[in-house]
Amino acid sequence: ADVSSIRTALVQWYETVHLLRQMPWRKQHNPTLDHEQRAQRAYEVWISEIMLQQTQVATVIPYYNRWLERFPTIRDLAGASIDEVNSLWKGLGYYSRASRLLAGAKKAVEDYGGRLPDNAKDMQANIPGIGRYSAGAICSIAYGENVPVLDGNVNRLLSRFLALHAPPKAKKTLDILWNAASAMVQDLSSSSEYPGDINQALIELGSTVCKVRDPTCASCPLRTWCAAYTATQINNPTTPPTD
Ligand code: ADE
Repeated sequence: ADVSSIRTALVQWYETVHLLRQMPWRKQHNPTLDHEQRAQRAYEVWISEIMLQQTQVATVIPYYNRWLERFPTIRDLAGASIDEVNSLWKGLGYYSRASRLLAGAKKAVEDYGGRLPDNAKDMQANIPGIGRYSAGAICSIAYGENVPVLDGNVNRLLSRFLALHAPPKAKKTLDILWNAASAMVQDLSSSSEYPGDINQALIELGSTVCKVRDPTCASCPLRTWCAAYTATQINNPTTPPTD
């Protein structure tokens, strides 16, 4: 199928959902931001992505807002004590995420002039706690870099989309899925779509429509291209795909 039509359908869907689901870390992408302002966006998106790793959106929002009030910039965070960082994290669980944020901020201040590296490769290689997923999310959203994301939701969505029927965490499966996720953000130069929007659309579609149980295929913008949906429609037009 033609990836640009798939992407267009995805982003159109996201734009309608996005207006309904306001999140403080989501901002209209702005091509006029300078380097410093983009690095500030990267800091904010980093905080949101780390908080969202194991925690639901509705729970994260007040924590995110309190965090940015207390640590408006990466330099404010780098100067904080671990006790204060942990007290702001209280209730979110998985406290190692908070100590890695602190370590990452210190590293950014010491080695990168108080900015997160401006590309996914350097970010992943040099900032503690930032793996391929987080680097992809932060750099596509804040810097407009054409890098993919693959979290649990996007893994499930793309596995169904391609009807992989493969163990979701196997190295071979992950290679296929990262390649598929990359294809979604490649060759964007002649289109008006923004990689950060495409990636957030995939995350959002995976978590709200292409759910683990009872996916709501009837409202999925990608169903006409979805191999799992198409296959179940042939055999049983009322049953959506399960994996
Ligand atoms: N989960 C992880 N990243 C997210 C994002 N940017 N928006 C909504 N949910 C998310």
